[in-house]
Amino acid sequence: MTVYNSVLDMIGNTPVVDVSGLSPDPSVRILAKMEGQNPAGSVKDRIALSMITEAEADGTLRPGATIIEPSSGNTGIAMAMICRIRGYELKIVLPENVSIERRQLLDVYGAEIIPSPGEEGSNGAVRRAQKLADENPDWVFLYQYGNEANPRAHYRTTGPEIWRDVPDITHFVAGLGTSGTLLGVGTYLKEQNPEVKVLAVEPPSGEQVEGLRSLEDGYIPPVFDKWGGYDLLDGKSIVRPRESLEHTRMLADVGIFSGISAGAALAGARKVAEKIDRGVIVFVISDYGWKYLSTGAWTLDLDEATANAEKVIYF
Ligand SMILES: Cc1ncc(COP(=O)(O)O)c(C=O)c1O
Repeated sequence: MTVYNSVLDMIGNTPVVDVSGLSPDPSVRILAKMEGQNPAGSVKDRIALSMITEAEADGTLRPGATIIEPSSGNTGIAMAMICRIRGYELKIVLPENVSIERRQLLDVYGAEIIPSPGEEGSNGAVRRAQKLADENPDWVFLYQYGNEANPRAHYRTTGPEIWRDVPDITHFVAGLGTSGTLLGVGTYLKEQNPEVKVLAVEPPSGEQVEGLRSLEDGYIPPVFDKWGGYDLLDGKSIVRPRESLEHTRMLADVGIFSGISAGAALAGARKVAEKIDRGVIVFVISDYGWKYLSTGAWTLDLDEATANAEKVIYF
């Protein structure tokens, strides 16, 4: 058993679990990359560490600095953990209507919460953070949507891990939020084997699936274009909020207590499986279910749970 010097050394190297029992076609395997294993609980540990480490290395981030970031979810929590360890002050711009668990986790690590109007969603939080960063030039704005350390973290770690563990991968499926996971992993996998297909899971325009965004809703993250965007993606799967919850429950059938974007990603992977004759699909479980318990995602009637999930922003 390895003894780690810091929890930060536990970021990455997550396991892959074969969930082919959930595949609609026995000739198509489906494998889950378990990002909930990261110490602050999500795939975003990787990018938070890479954004902070790169900013330290290039001198943007000095000891005791104040960092501001718009995040209603996993990136904020991961940054809060690292800032607590490294002694930075963190201000998170958070839409008012995020789930209670997110607020509580930010409190655990001592981040300051700056509320933004719930009806403006994550785009409103981005605008507010940008304005505050402009008004306070001594604060450091790492900006996950525009910072190439985000896709780079996946290019350097998540992609190579998947290639090492699943060399016969044919399709990579993940939700699209900042697009860092898809583009970083996708770029790496296509360099190893140009035949690997990279597919985004998005909610329909105007509908909410936590963690994910529709590119049709008007905001294209700058990292999307910088890392090849539409040229890299081979397609997308549209998954509705209700299907995401149905598939989150399906994951529980095989013992995986996942977040709701993982249900969306599984739904996307199963749609891909229906269209191909054979293959090996890897999809991403971005986080586990703890932060979503208050929505009743597993226990309420499906219509009620869907309505709850649509009210709360998780991104
Ligand atoms: C739960 C969850 N799933 C998926 C994503 C999407 O990942 P990415 O930002 O790398 O596109 C996010 C991003 O915030 C997320 O929080």
